[in-house]
Amino acid sequence: MRAEANPLFSVRSRRGQRGFGLLNSFLLSGAAALLVWGGLYVGKYGGRFDGDEFDEAPHGRPAKVVAGAEDPNAKVLKRGAIIFQQCALCHQADGSGDPTKNVPPLAGSEWVLAESPNRVIRILLSGLTGPVTVKGNVWNGGIMASWRKTADNPSALTDEEIAAVLSYARNSWGNKAPMITPEQVSAIAKEEKRPPTVSWSAEELLKVPLTGAPAASAALTPDQLKAALQALPAADLEALLKDVKK
Ligand code: HEC
Repeated sequence: MRAEANPLFSVRSRRGQRGFGLLNSFLLSGAAALLVWGGLYVGKYGGRFDGDEFDEAPHGRPAKVVAGAEDPNAKVLKRGAIIFQQCALCHQADGSGDPTKNVPPLAGSEWVLAESPNRVIRILLSGLTGPVTVKGNVWNGGIMASWRKTADNPSALTDEEIAAVLSYARNSWGNKAPMITPEQVSAIAKEEKRPPTVSWSAEELLKVPLTGAPAASAALTPDQLKAALQALPAADLEALLKDVKK
């Protein structure tokens, strides 16, 4: 059967002119409706064709909160990832290190993962050289220079950047440890008298306590403890001894 002969597609008027069949009218009006709807949709949700537009909320209304978008840590970690490209030259993008250049891994490293940032911040501030044990292997022969920005080393990292890159290393490749803040870096930089040009050895670093301040009893020799107790007023000493005896 030829299509024209099918009244669904084509009708012939009495005057013999060809008109639209029932189905064609449906298709046409359907297409027109789609066009109108599409236009309305783009007008409402198209974000005025702004490249930065990603949200379906119409303009003028508060955007939906996208999970994670408000997380300040995510922003810092993103920044850290960019800075880390400089570290990756030696430590590799996956933090696995480079045995051919005596570069130890950061993934799974106890120096990176220690809950307290006391040592790892110092490594970045003044550098590290000499034998260092990482994940049970001794690494030796490599040198990591200071990453701290100074007048002599202007292309290095600010305290904020050191915090970001360390936070990134502590939360990548399966690593999980607390973020490091710029304030923590600044506090250690201020308190640490070591110049950035004198690299740490691992041996020296291991003496840096991982807690804020060493416990008083560990810091005092028995003689010092005795002197400290003798300096107390008699009543206080008596109260203290009673308390200790309990
Ligand atoms: C020029 C190569 C080089 C670059 C670039 C480099 N490091 Fe290192 N890094 C080393 C070497 C070598 C050691 C080991 C030094 C030693 O043997 O005492 C090391 C040691 C470390 C350690 C302590 C040991 C460990 O594996 O955990 C940390 C942490 C560290 N680097 C972090 C970083 C970060 C963060 C950056 C980027 C800001 C960086 N490094 C850039 C070469 C490099």
